Amino acid sequence: MYLTRRQFHKLGLLGGSALLLPRSMTGGALSGSGSTNPLNQRLASPPVEPFTRPLIIPPVLAPEYSNDALDFYRVTMQQAEVEIIPGTMTTIWGYNGLYPGPTIRARSGRPVVVRQENRLPESMSVHLHGGHTPPSSDGHPYDLIAPGADKDYDYPNNQIPTTLWYHDHAVDATGRHVYMGLAGFYIMTDDYEDSLPLPKGDNDVPLMIQDRRFNANGSLNYSLTDRAILEGVLGDTILVNGVVQPYHEVGTRKVRFRILNGSNARAYRLALSSGQRLIQIGSDGGLLSRPVSRASIFVSPAERIDVVIDFSGYPLGTRVVLRDINEDETSLGNVLEFRVVREESDDSSVPETLRYVDLIPESSATTTRTFTLDERVINGRTLFTINGRLFDPTYVDARPRLNDVEIWKFVNTTSEYQLHPIHIHDIEWQILDINGQRPAAGDDGWKDVFTVRGLSTVRVIGRFTDLTGIYVFHCHKLEHEDHAMMAQFEVLPAKD
Ligand code: C2O
Ligand code: CU
Ligand code: CU
Repeated sequence: MYLTRRQFHKLGLLGGSALLLPRSMTGGALSGSGSTNPLNQRLASPPVEPFTRPLIIPPVLAPEYSNDALDFYRVTMQQAEVEIIPGTMTTIWGYNGLYPGPTIRARSGRPVVVRQENRLPESMSVHLHGGHTPPSSDGHPYDLIAPGADKDYDYPNNQIPTTLWYHDHAVDATGRHVYMGLAGFYIMTDDYEDSLPLPKGDNDVPLMIQDRRFNANGSLNYSLTDRAILEGVLGDTILVNGVVQPYHEVGTRKVRFRILNGSNARAYRLALSSGQRLIQIGSDGGLLSRPVSRASIFVSPAERIDVVIDFSGYPLGTRVVLRDINEDETSLGNVLEFRVVREESDDSSVPETLRYVDLIPESSATTTRTFTLDERVINGRTLFTINGRLFDPTYVDARPRLNDVEIWKFVNTTSEYQLHPIHIHDIEWQILDINGQRPAAGDDGWKDVFTVRGLSTVRVIGRFTDLTGIYVFHCHKLEHEDHAMMAQFEVLPAKD
Protein backbone atom coordinates (compact mmCIF):
# COMPACT_ATOMS: atom_id res chain seq x y z
CA MET A 1 0.00 0.00 0.00
CA TYR A 2 2.78 2.42 0.77
CA LEU A 3 4.82 3.36 -2.24
CA THR A 4 7.65 5.74 -2.75
CA ARG A 5 7.05 8.77 -4.94
CA ARG A 6 9.30 7.16 -7.51
CA GLN A 7 6.99 4.17 -7.69
CA PHE A 8 4.00 6.46 -8.15
CA HIS A 9 5.70 8.24 -10.99
CA LYS A 10 6.61 4.95 -12.55
CA LEU A 11 2.92 4.20 -12.61
CA GLY A 12 2.37 7.48 -14.39
CA LEU A 13 -0.43 8.23 -12.02
CA LEU A 14 0.82 11.39 -10.43
CA GLY A 15 1.09 14.82 -11.88
CA GLY A 16 4.11 16.84 -10.78
CA SER A 17 2.12 18.76 -8.23
CA ALA A 18 0.35 15.86 -6.60
CA LEU A 19 0.89 15.56 -2.90
CA LEU A 20 0.34 12.46 -0.87
CA LEU A 21 -0.82 12.62 2.66
CA PRO A 22 -0.28 9.87 5.16
CA ARG A 23 -3.24 7.70 6.08
CA SER A 24 -3.15 9.08 9.61
CA MET A 25 -3.78 12.64 8.53
CA THR A 26 -7.29 13.61 9.44
CA GLY A 27 -9.29 16.64 8.50
CA GLY A 28 -9.11 19.26 11.21
CA ALA A 29 -12.79 19.87 10.70
CA LEU A 30 -13.80 16.37 11.57
CA SER A 31 -13.94 15.43 15.19
CA GLY A 32 -14.35 11.89 16.35
CA SER A 33 -11.84 10.72 13.80
CA GLY A 34 -8.83 9.32 15.56
CA SER A 35 -10.44 10.01 18.91
CA THR A 36 -8.77 8.33 21.85
CA ASN A 37 -12.04 7.95 23.71
CA PRO A 38 -13.49 4.58 22.70
CA LEU A 39 -16.92 5.61 23.96
CA ASN A 40 -17.03 8.64 21.76
CA GLN A 41 -18.34 6.74 18.78
CA ARG A 42 -21.27 5.40 20.74
CA LEU A 43 -22.61 8.79 21.77
CA ALA A 44 -25.88 9.28 19.98
CA SER A 45 -26.33 12.15 17.58
CA PRO A 46 -28.50 15.04 18.79
CA PRO A 47 -32.06 13.92 18.09
CA VAL A 48 -33.91 15.59 15.23
CA GLU A 49 -37.69 15.35 14.97
CA PRO A 50 -38.35 13.43 11.74
CA PHE A 51 -40.25 15.01 8.86
CA THR A 52 -39.88 18.57 10.10
CA ARG A 53 -37.79 19.92 7.25
CA PRO A 54 -38.46 19.88 3.52
CA LEU A 55 -36.39 17.86 1.11
CA ILE A 56 -33.84 19.96 -0.73
CA ILE A 57 -33.12 19.20 -4.38
CA PRO A 58 -29.45 19.86 -5.17
CA PRO A 59 -29.15 22.72 -7.67
CA VAL A 60 -28.33 21.89 -11.29
CA LEU A 61 -24.94 23.32 -12.20
CA ALA A 62 -24.76 25.59 -15.23
CA PRO A 63 -21.82 25.06 -17.57
CA GLU A 64 -19.23 27.81 -17.59
CA TYR A 65 -19.42 27.58 -21.36
CA SER A 66 -20.78 25.28 -24.04
CA ASN A 67 -19.55 24.96 -27.59
CA ASP A 68 -20.09 22.58 -30.48
CA ALA A 69 -17.86 20.01 -28.89
CA LEU A 70 -18.56 20.00 -25.17
CA ASP A 71 -19.95 21.53 -22.00
CA PHE A 72 -17.34 22.88 -19.58
CA TYR A 73 -18.03 22.99 -15.86
CA ARG A 74 -15.99 24.36 -13.01
CA VAL A 75 -16.33 22.89 -9.53
CA THR A 76 -14.49 23.96 -6.40
CA MET A 77 -14.00 21.53 -3.56
CA GLN A 78 -14.27 23.63 -0.45
CA GLN A 79 -15.22 23.70 3.18
CA ALA A 80 -18.51 25.21 4.30
CA GLU A 81 -20.72 25.50 7.37
CA VAL A 82 -24.27 24.22 7.00
CA GLU A 83 -27.15 23.74 9.40
CA ILE A 84 -28.04 20.05 9.44
CA ILE A 85 -28.87 19.56 13.12
CA PRO A 86 -31.20 22.47 13.98
CA GLY A 87 -29.42 25.06 16.12
CA THR A 88 -25.90 23.83 15.32
CA MET A 89 -23.53 24.28 12.43
CA THR A 90 -21.77 21.39 10.69
CA THR A 91 -18.51 21.80 8.85
CA ILE A 92 -18.73 19.95 5.57
CA TRP A 93 -16.45 19.46 2.60
CA GLY A 94 -18.46 19.89 -0.53
CA TYR A 95 -18.28 20.35 -4.27
CA ASN A 96 -18.87 24.11 -4.56
CA GLY A 97 -19.26 24.00 -0.79
CA LEU A 98 -22.56 22.13 -1.12
CA TYR A 99 -23.65 18.87 0.47
CA PRO A 100 -24.64 17.06 -1.71
CA GLY A 101 -22.73 18.72 -4.53
CA PRO A 102 -24.50 20.39 -7.45
CA THR A 103 -26.12 18.09 -10.01
CA ILE A 104 -24.50 17.92 -13.42
CA ARG A 105 -26.89 17.14 -16.28
CA ALA A 106 -25.31 15.44 -19.28
CA ARG A 107 -26.42 13.83 -22.52
CA SER A 108 -25.19 10.59 -24.03
CA GLY A 109 -22.57 11.21 -26.68
CA ARG A 110 -22.00 14.86 -25.72
CA PRO A 111 -18.70 15.30 -23.88
CA VAL A 112 -18.40 17.13 -20.60
CA VAL A 113 -15.24 18.53 -19.06
CA VAL A 114 -15.27 19.25 -15.34
CA ARG A 115 -12.46 21.35 -13.92
CA GLN A 116 -12.13 20.30 -10.29
CA GLU A 117 -10.35 22.85 -8.12
CA ASN A 118 -9.14 21.49 -4.82
CA ARG A 119 -9.38 24.18 -2.15
CA LEU A 120 -9.37 21.68 0.70
CA PRO A 121 -6.38 20.83 2.91
CA GLU A 122 -6.00 17.25 1.62
CA SER A 123 -5.36 15.63 -1.73
CA MET A 124 -8.46 14.54 -3.61
CA SER A 125 -9.40 12.39 -6.58
CA VAL A 126 -12.80 12.65 -8.26
CA HIS A 127 -14.48 9.56 -9.67
CA LEU A 128 -17.57 9.61 -11.86
CA HIS A 129 -19.27 6.46 -10.62
CA GLY A 130 -21.01 4.67 -13.49
CA GLY A 131 -19.02 6.60 -16.06
CA HIS A 132 -17.38 4.96 -19.06
CA THR A 133 -14.37 7.19 -18.67
CA PRO A 134 -10.75 7.01 -19.87
CA PRO A 135 -8.36 5.99 -17.05
CA SER A 136 -6.74 9.44 -16.95
CA SER A 137 -10.09 10.94 -15.95
CA ASP A 138 -11.45 8.06 -13.90
CA GLY A 139 -10.32 9.24 -10.48
CA HIS A 140 -7.80 6.50 -9.77
CA PRO A 141 -7.05 6.61 -6.02
CA TYR A 142 -3.44 7.61 -6.66
CA ASP A 143 -4.27 10.18 -9.34
CA LEU A 144 -4.54 12.92 -6.75
CA ILE A 145 -5.23 16.63 -6.98
CA ALA A 146 -3.04 18.35 -4.38
CA PRO A 147 -4.46 21.11 -2.21
CA GLY A 148 -4.53 24.25 -4.32
CA ALA A 149 -4.26 22.32 -7.59
CA ASP A 150 -6.84 21.74 -10.33
CA LYS A 151 -7.57 18.89 -12.70
CA ASP A 152 -9.76 18.69 -15.80
CA TYR A 153 -11.78 15.50 -16.01
CA ASP A 154 -12.92 14.46 -19.49
CA TYR A 155 -16.20 12.62 -19.63
CA PRO A 156 -17.02 11.43 -23.16
CA ASN A 157 -20.47 10.22 -22.02
CA ASN A 158 -20.31 7.60 -24.71
CA GLN A 159 -22.67 5.21 -22.94
CA ILE A 160 -26.25 4.33 -22.16
CA PRO A 161 -27.67 7.19 -20.07
CA THR A 162 -28.28 6.62 -16.38
CA THR A 163 -28.05 8.12 -12.91
CA LEU A 164 -24.38 8.50 -12.11
CA TRP A 165 -22.72 10.18 -9.18
CA TYR A 166 -19.38 11.78 -8.61
CA HIS A 167 -17.53 11.35 -5.36
CA ASP A 168 -14.10 11.48 -3.85
CA HIS A 169 -11.82 8.51 -4.50
CA ALA A 170 -8.54 9.49 -2.76
CA VAL A 171 -6.40 6.60 -1.60
CA ASP A 172 -7.08 5.51 1.98
CA ALA A 173 -9.31 8.53 2.64
CA THR A 174 -12.37 8.01 0.44
CA GLY A 175 -14.63 7.04 3.34
CA ARG A 176 -13.82 10.14 5.39
CA HIS A 177 -13.97 12.45 2.40
CA VAL A 178 -17.36 11.19 1.24
CA TYR A 179 -18.61 11.31 4.84
CA MET A 180 -17.61 14.98 4.94
CA GLY A 181 -19.91 15.58 1.97
CA LEU A 182 -17.93 15.02 -1.23
CA ALA A 183 -20.64 13.45 -3.41
CA GLY A 184 -23.05 14.73 -6.04
CA PHE A 185 -25.37 13.56 -8.82
CA TYR A 186 -24.50 13.40 -12.50
CA ILE A 187 -27.64 12.61 -14.44
CA MET A 188 -27.39 11.57 -18.05
CA THR A 189 -30.19 11.29 -20.56
CA ASP A 190 -30.67 11.08 -24.33
CA ASP A 191 -33.32 11.77 -26.97
CA TYR A 192 -34.81 8.31 -26.67
CA GLU A 193 -35.31 8.58 -22.92
CA ASP A 194 -36.69 12.11 -23.34
CA SER A 195 -39.25 10.71 -25.79
CA LEU A 196 -40.61 8.28 -23.19
CA PRO A 197 -43.70 9.54 -21.31
CA LEU A 198 -42.00 9.13 -17.89
CA PRO A 199 -42.40 11.88 -15.26
CA LYS A 200 -40.07 14.80 -16.02
CA GLY A 201 -38.86 18.12 -14.68
CA ASP A 202 -39.89 18.71 -11.06
CA ASN A 203 -41.31 15.19 -11.05
CA ASP A 204 -37.91 13.62 -11.74
CA VAL A 205 -36.29 13.78 -8.31
CA PRO A 206 -32.82 12.56 -7.26
CA LEU A 207 -32.57 11.19 -3.71
CA MET A 208 -29.19 10.55 -2.09
CA ILE A 209 -29.68 8.48 1.06
CA GLN A 210 -26.87 8.55 3.62
CA ASP A 211 -26.37 7.82 7.29
CA ARG A 212 -24.24 10.00 9.51
CA ARG A 213 -23.30 10.45 13.14
CA PHE A 214 -23.01 13.91 14.67
CA ASN A 215 -21.40 15.23 17.82
CA ALA A 216 -23.40 17.38 20.23
CA ASN A 217 -21.99 20.53 18.62
CA GLY A 218 -23.19 19.44 15.19
CA SER A 219 -19.80 18.36 13.84
CA LEU A 220 -19.60 15.10 11.91
CA ASN A 221 -18.31 12.14 13.89
CA TYR A 222 -16.35 9.75 11.68
CA SER A 223 -14.97 7.25 14.12
CA LEU A 224 -12.63 4.84 12.44
CA THR A 225 -12.23 2.18 15.12
CA ASP A 226 -10.92 -1.31 14.32
CA ARG A 227 -14.51 -2.46 14.52
CA ALA A 228 -15.66 0.23 12.12
CA ILE A 229 -13.00 -0.87 9.66
CA LEU A 230 -14.68 -4.29 9.65
CA GLU A 231 -18.31 -3.21 9.75
CA GLY A 232 -17.95 0.08 7.96
CA VAL A 233 -18.76 3.40 9.59
CA LEU A 234 -22.47 3.41 10.34
CA GLY A 235 -24.35 6.53 11.36
CA ASP A 236 -27.41 6.81 13.59
CA THR A 237 -29.10 9.55 11.59
CA ILE A 238 -30.60 9.19 8.11
CA LEU A 239 -30.28 12.04 5.64
CA VAL A 240 -31.71 12.49 2.19
CA ASN A 241 -29.93 15.08 0.03
CA GLY A 242 -28.24 16.36 3.19
CA VAL A 243 -31.46 16.85 5.18
CA VAL A 244 -32.30 14.67 8.19
CA GLN A 245 -35.45 12.62 7.45
CA PRO A 246 -37.13 15.28 5.33
CA TYR A 247 -40.67 15.51 4.00
CA HIS A 248 -41.47 16.07 0.36
CA GLU A 249 -44.76 17.48 -0.95
CA VAL A 250 -46.21 15.81 -4.02
CA GLY A 251 -49.32 16.07 -6.17
CA THR A 252 -51.81 13.31 -6.97
CA ARG A 253 -49.68 11.99 -9.80
CA LYS A 254 -46.68 9.84 -10.68
CA VAL A 255 -43.21 10.96 -9.64
CA ARG A 256 -39.88 9.48 -10.68
CA PHE A 257 -37.22 9.07 -7.99
CA ARG A 258 -33.60 8.33 -8.81
CA ILE A 259 -32.49 6.79 -5.55
CA LEU A 260 -28.80 6.49 -4.72
CA ASN A 261 -27.52 4.76 -1.63
CA GLY A 262 -24.68 7.19 -0.95
CA SER A 263 -23.92 5.72 2.48
CA ASN A 264 -20.43 4.62 3.43
CA ALA A 265 -21.48 1.13 4.54
CA ARG A 266 -25.20 0.88 5.31
CA ALA A 267 -27.52 -1.10 3.06
CA TYR A 268 -31.25 -0.42 2.98
CA ARG A 269 -34.33 -2.37 2.04
CA LEU A 270 -36.69 0.34 0.86
CA ALA A 271 -40.46 0.04 0.92
CA LEU A 272 -43.47 2.33 1.28
CA SER A 273 -45.34 2.47 4.60
CA SER A 274 -48.67 2.26 2.73
CA GLY A 275 -47.77 -1.15 1.32
CA GLN A 276 -47.93 0.27 -2.21
CA ARG A 277 -45.32 -1.32 -4.44
CA LEU A 278 -42.45 0.54 -6.04
CA ILE A 279 -42.36 0.53 -9.83
CA GLN A 280 -38.70 0.06 -10.68
CA ILE A 281 -37.72 1.40 -14.09
CA GLY A 282 -33.92 1.46 -13.86
CA SER A 283 -30.84 0.10 -12.14
CA ASP A 284 -27.22 1.32 -11.85
CA GLY A 285 -26.46 1.44 -15.55
CA GLY A 286 -29.71 2.56 -17.14
CA LEU A 287 -33.36 1.80 -17.74
CA LEU A 288 -34.65 -1.75 -17.48
CA SER A 289 -36.22 -3.51 -20.45
CA ARG A 290 -39.59 -3.17 -18.78
CA PRO A 291 -40.91 -1.85 -15.47
CA VAL A 292 -40.95 -4.18 -12.48
CA SER A 293 -43.31 -3.90 -9.53
CA ARG A 294 -41.52 -4.65 -6.25
CA ALA A 295 -42.76 -4.67 -2.66
CA SER A 296 -39.31 -3.67 -1.45
CA ILE A 297 -35.90 -3.13 -3.01
CA PHE A 298 -32.53 -3.85 -1.41
CA VAL A 299 -29.91 -1.19 -2.12
CA SER A 300 -26.28 -1.65 -1.17
CA PRO A 301 -23.85 1.25 -0.88
CA ALA A 302 -23.36 2.96 -4.29
CA GLU A 303 -26.28 1.19 -5.97
CA ARG A 304 -28.89 3.24 -7.79
CA ILE A 305 -32.51 2.37 -8.34
CA ASP A 306 -34.84 4.38 -10.54
CA VAL A 307 -38.46 4.09 -9.37
CA VAL A 308 -41.83 5.63 -10.11
CA ILE A 309 -44.37 6.11 -7.32
CA ASP A 310 -47.97 6.86 -8.23
CA PHE A 311 -49.61 9.11 -5.64
CA SER A 312 -52.86 9.45 -7.58
CA GLY A 313 -54.74 6.95 -5.44
CA TYR A 314 -54.29 8.87 -2.17
CA PRO A 315 -56.67 11.45 -0.70
CA LEU A 316 -55.14 14.88 -0.10
CA GLY A 317 -53.43 15.02 3.27
CA THR A 318 -52.11 11.45 3.05
CA ARG A 319 -48.61 10.84 4.32
CA VAL A 320 -46.60 7.93 2.98
CA VAL A 321 -43.17 7.12 4.38
CA LEU A 322 -40.31 5.64 2.43
CA ARG A 323 -38.94 3.23 4.98
CA ASP A 324 -35.86 1.12 5.46
CA ILE A 325 -37.40 -2.15 6.55
CA ASN A 326 -33.95 -3.56 7.33
CA GLU A 327 -34.09 -1.52 10.53
CA ASP A 328 -36.55 -1.93 13.38
CA GLU A 329 -35.26 1.16 15.14
CA THR A 330 -37.74 3.83 14.12
CA SER A 331 -35.09 6.54 14.08
CA LEU A 332 -33.24 4.78 11.29
CA GLY A 333 -36.17 3.13 9.58
CA ASN A 334 -37.82 6.37 8.46
CA VAL A 335 -36.14 7.77 5.41
CA LEU A 336 -38.48 10.30 3.84
CA GLU A 337 -42.14 11.27 4.17
CA PHE A 338 -44.20 12.04 1.09
CA ARG A 339 -47.12 14.40 1.69
CA VAL A 340 -49.87 14.39 -0.88
CA VAL A 341 -50.83 18.05 -0.82
CA ARG A 342 -52.37 19.01 -4.16
CA GLU A 343 -54.61 17.73 -6.91
CA GLU A 344 -52.59 17.50 -10.07
CA SER A 345 -53.27 16.21 -13.53
CA ASP A 346 -50.78 13.70 -14.86
CA ASP A 347 -49.88 13.19 -18.48
CA SER A 348 -46.98 10.90 -17.63
CA SER A 349 -47.06 7.12 -17.79
CA VAL A 350 -44.73 4.18 -17.38
CA PRO A 351 -44.46 2.48 -20.75
CA GLU A 352 -44.43 -1.29 -20.93
CA THR A 353 -41.15 -1.14 -22.83
CA LEU A 354 -38.40 1.09 -21.49
CA ARG A 355 -34.97 0.48 -23.03
CA TYR A 356 -34.25 -2.99 -24.25
CA VAL A 357 -31.39 -4.57 -22.30
CA ASP A 358 -29.77 -7.03 -24.63
CA LEU A 359 -28.72 -9.97 -22.47
CA ILE A 360 -25.11 -10.92 -23.09
CA PRO A 361 -25.07 -14.66 -23.77
CA GLU A 362 -22.88 -16.67 -21.45
CA SER A 363 -21.54 -18.49 -24.49
CA SER A 364 -19.96 -15.27 -25.79
CA ALA A 365 -17.55 -15.08 -22.86
CA THR A 366 -13.91 -15.82 -23.64
CA THR A 367 -12.71 -15.95 -20.05
CA THR A 368 -14.05 -16.61 -16.57
CA ARG A 369 -12.14 -15.11 -13.68
CA THR A 370 -12.72 -15.91 -10.04
CA PHE A 371 -12.19 -13.35 -7.29
CA THR A 372 -12.35 -14.52 -3.72
CA LEU A 373 -13.44 -12.04 -1.09
CA ASP A 374 -11.71 -13.14 2.04
CA GLU A 375 -10.70 -12.15 5.52
CA ARG A 376 -7.01 -12.05 6.43
CA VAL A 377 -5.06 -11.12 9.51
CA ILE A 378 -2.42 -8.72 8.27
CA ASN A 379 0.02 -7.17 10.76
CA GLY A 380 -2.25 -8.26 13.58
CA ARG A 381 -5.31 -6.63 12.09
CA THR A 382 -8.26 -8.37 10.46
CA LEU A 383 -8.87 -6.98 7.00
CA PHE A 384 -10.84 -7.95 3.91
CA THR A 385 -9.00 -8.74 0.71
CA ILE A 386 -9.63 -9.62 -2.91
CA ASN A 387 -7.82 -12.82 -3.87
CA GLY A 388 -5.85 -12.61 -0.65
CA ARG A 389 -4.10 -9.32 -1.31
CA LEU A 390 -4.57 -5.77 -0.22
CA PHE A 391 -4.61 -3.07 -2.89
CA ASP A 392 -1.26 -2.65 -4.55
CA PRO A 393 -1.21 -0.09 -7.36
CA THR A 394 1.76 -1.85 -8.95
CA TYR A 395 -0.19 -5.09 -9.30
CA VAL A 396 -2.79 -5.88 -11.96
CA ASP A 397 -5.15 -8.77 -11.28
CA ALA A 398 -6.71 -9.18 -14.70
CA ARG A 399 -5.89 -8.20 -18.28
CA PRO A 400 -8.99 -8.49 -20.45
CA ARG A 401 -8.82 -7.49 -24.10
CA LEU A 402 -10.90 -4.80 -25.72
CA ASN A 403 -14.20 -6.12 -27.11
CA ASP A 404 -13.90 -9.33 -25.15
CA VAL A 405 -16.78 -10.63 -23.08
CA GLU A 406 -15.77 -11.97 -19.68
CA ILE A 407 -17.49 -13.58 -16.74
CA TRP A 408 -16.27 -12.46 -13.35
CA LYS A 409 -17.15 -14.60 -10.41
CA PHE A 410 -17.07 -13.17 -6.88
CA VAL A 411 -16.96 -15.68 -4.05
CA ASN A 412 -17.56 -14.22 -0.60
CA THR A 413 -15.90 -16.49 1.95
CA THR A 414 -15.69 -13.88 4.71
CA SER A 415 -18.67 -14.64 6.94
CA GLU A 416 -22.36 -15.23 6.83
CA TYR A 417 -23.02 -11.63 7.90
CA GLN A 418 -20.45 -9.77 5.85
CA LEU A 419 -21.92 -8.33 2.70
CA HIS A 420 -19.52 -6.82 0.15
CA PRO A 421 -20.99 -4.52 -2.51
CA ILE A 422 -18.46 -5.01 -5.28
CA HIS A 423 -18.06 -2.18 -7.78
CA ILE A 424 -16.18 -2.40 -11.08
CA HIS A 425 -15.10 0.76 -12.88
CA ASP A 426 -15.23 1.35 -16.66
CA ILE A 427 -18.14 -0.74 -17.96
CA GLU A 428 -21.63 -1.86 -17.02
CA TRP A 429 -22.29 -5.54 -16.34
CA GLN A 430 -25.19 -7.95 -16.08
CA ILE A 431 -25.64 -10.34 -13.20
CA LEU A 432 -25.75 -13.90 -14.52
CA ASP A 433 -26.59 -15.58 -11.27
CA ILE A 434 -26.43 -15.40 -7.50
CA ASN A 435 -25.70 -18.77 -5.92
CA GLY A 436 -26.77 -20.32 -9.20
CA GLN A 437 -30.12 -18.50 -9.35
CA ARG A 438 -31.06 -15.82 -11.86
CA PRO A 439 -31.24 -12.38 -10.20
CA ALA A 440 -34.65 -10.96 -9.31
CA ALA A 441 -36.38 -8.89 -11.98
CA GLY A 442 -35.05 -5.37 -11.50
CA ASP A 443 -31.58 -6.64 -10.61
CA ASP A 444 -31.17 -8.15 -14.07
CA GLY A 445 -30.42 -4.91 -15.95
CA TRP A 446 -27.18 -2.96 -16.31
CA LYS A 447 -25.20 -2.98 -13.08
CA ASP A 448 -21.89 -1.71 -11.73
CA VAL A 449 -22.40 -2.66 -8.08
CA PHE A 450 -23.20 -6.22 -7.08
CA THR A 451 -24.30 -7.22 -3.60
CA VAL A 452 -22.21 -10.24 -2.69
CA ARG A 453 -23.74 -11.52 0.52
CA GLY A 454 -21.90 -13.60 3.07
CA LEU A 455 -20.93 -17.07 1.83
CA SER A 456 -22.44 -16.30 -1.57
CA THR A 457 -21.22 -16.41 -5.14
CA VAL A 458 -22.22 -13.86 -7.76
CA ARG A 459 -21.35 -14.19 -11.45
CA VAL A 460 -21.46 -11.15 -13.70
CA ILE A 461 -20.87 -10.77 -17.42
CA GLY A 462 -19.59 -7.73 -19.29
CA ARG A 463 -17.98 -6.56 -22.50
CA PHE A 464 -14.93 -4.27 -22.47
CA THR A 465 -15.57 -1.57 -25.05
CA ASP A 466 -13.91 1.61 -26.38
CA LEU A 467 -11.34 2.21 -23.67
CA THR A 468 -8.05 0.63 -22.70
CA GLY A 469 -5.90 1.08 -19.63
CA ILE A 470 -5.91 0.50 -15.89
CA TYR A 471 -9.04 0.65 -13.76
CA VAL A 472 -9.86 -0.36 -10.22
CA PHE A 473 -12.58 -2.54 -8.78
CA HIS A 474 -13.32 -2.70 -5.11
CA CYS A 475 -15.73 -3.16 -2.28
CA HIS A 476 -17.96 -0.07 -1.98
CA LYS A 477 -18.20 -0.26 1.78
CA LEU A 478 -15.87 2.69 1.86
CA GLU A 479 -14.01 1.58 4.97
CA HIS A 480 -13.31 -1.75 3.26
CA GLU A 481 -12.17 0.07 0.13
CA ASP A 482 -9.84 2.31 2.15
CA HIS A 483 -8.36 -0.68 4.00
CA ALA A 484 -7.64 -1.83 1.02
CA MET A 485 -10.23 -4.17 -0.48
CA MET A 486 -9.44 -3.03 -3.99
CA ALA A 487 -7.72 -4.46 -7.04
CA GLN A 488 -6.93 -3.46 -10.62
CA PHE A 489 -7.54 -4.66 -14.13
CA GLU A 490 -6.01 -3.45 -17.35
CA VAL A 491 -7.95 -3.48 -20.60
CA LEU A 492 -5.48 -4.37 -23.34
CA PRO A 493 -5.96 -3.48 -27.02
CA ALA A 494 -7.92 -5.98 -29.06
CA LYS A 495 -6.03 -8.81 -30.74
CA ASP A 496 -6.22 -8.45 -34.48
CU1 C2O B 1 -18.22 4.79 -6.43
CU2 C2O B 1 -14.54 3.30 -7.26
O1 C2O B 1 -16.33 4.13 -6.70
CU1 CU C 1 -17.06 3.67 -10.24
CU1 CU D 1 -16.54 -5.14 1.73
